[in-house]
Amino acid sequence: MDKKPELATLGVRAGQARTQFHEHSEALFLTSSFVFDNAQQAASRFKGGEEGMVYSRFTNPTVSMFQDRLAALEGAESCVATASGMAAILATAMVHLKGGDHVVCSNAVFGATIQLFSGILARFGVETTFVSPTRTADWERASKKNTKLFFLETPSNPLTEISDIAALSAVAKRAGALLAVDNVFCTPVLQRPLELGADLVIHSATKYLDGQGRVLGGAVVGAKALVADPLIPFLRTAGPSLSPFNAWVLLKGLETLELRMLAQSAAALELARWLESNKQVKKVFYPGLPSHPQHELAKRQQRAAGSVVSFEVKGGRAAAWRLIDATRLMSITANLGDVKTTIIHPASTTHGRISQEARDAAGIGEGLVRVAVGLEAVADLEADLERGLA
Ligand SMILES: Cc1ncc(COP(=O)(O)O)c(C=O)c1O
Repeated sequence: MDKKPELATLGVRAGQARTQFHEHSEALFLTSSFVFDNAQQAASRFKGGEEGMVYSRFTNPTVSMFQDRLAALEGAESCVATASGMAAILATAMVHLKGGDHVVCSNAVFGATIQLFSGILARFGVETTFVSPTRTADWERASKKNTKLFFLETPSNPLTEISDIAALSAVAKRAGALLAVDNVFCTPVLQRPLELGADLVIHSATKYLDGQGRVLGGAVVGAKALVADPLIPFLRTAGPSLSPFNAWVLLKGLETLELRMLAQSAAALELARWLESNKQVKKVFYPGLPSHPQHELAKRQQRAAGSVVSFEVKGGRAAAWRLIDATRLMSITANLGDVKTTIIHPASTTHGRISQEARDAAGIGEGLVRVAVGLEAVADLEADLERGLA
């Protein structure tokens, strides 16, 4: 039997479909529709009787190459790309839930995900119970007869809490629910949720899959019966599809994904250790540090600890803002997953819309700063933070 290609090889090679011109780099099919040989062929393509491209809302060769490459990286049968990460979560909910269903969701997921479940989907009769990402027993307690979906993100943002995917997959199976894992922070390079028992993997491709902060994109990955079979007809009807241009940029991003994830994780670990030794820093949240409460679980579940490091400075908001304002290299922006390091104050930005009590309960203090480490030299990042910590 042929040797199975490794992740590095799949990232560069999987999914490429050459045209008759034998181009070396993947072709960008910037076209909204495809031409048929005759009326008969048009009719059978529309009916689905004959395979082939029809219209880029649901069929495009560049988008297919991106989907096939990401599916290979996640070790999945099927992948469907969407216009953004939020579109991937919405599409998943629309095909797997209906009014009267119940969802159990981690209370430490991306803010828009919380709004989607507690606001928009609630209006359509889907009820969601939010629970701790780390207390597995709470998920069992929150499950009901009509629970259809478990949804989580690990590590969480910004406190890098780790959920036990294998344990939660067992709870989800007992509850008769699907387990969906938002794998944005790890990507398949660091964590492969399907191998740990998850049913669906969700991506905001906008983050590490692109890696250079250029385009929006999303994806849902898993078995064909749960992904392509329901989602392609959904995209065809509802339209939150990935543009071929964005798919092409993302394909190029996947080629360097493994290198970037490993290098950015190594740099983040070095920066986290440096921060932990600084007297002005009260606490560092990074799964790669032995001081992290789920350090052992992270070591089992992930290949490396990722690029997001959060830390609490002494002196609350004033000190945190002073530190951020003293940086000259880091970009003050909420995005992450970029080769350019970003820095943000969660309590007044990404988590500013939730109440003070909710922030306190979640442990998002006024002195908390989140850094998403890129590819600059760590010594330069330390110097950039040192200025505000002095
Ligand atoms: C973990 C996570 N999931 C989903 C999203 C949403 O992705 P997008 O911005 O591509 O819609 C984000 C965006 O920041 C995110 O961080």
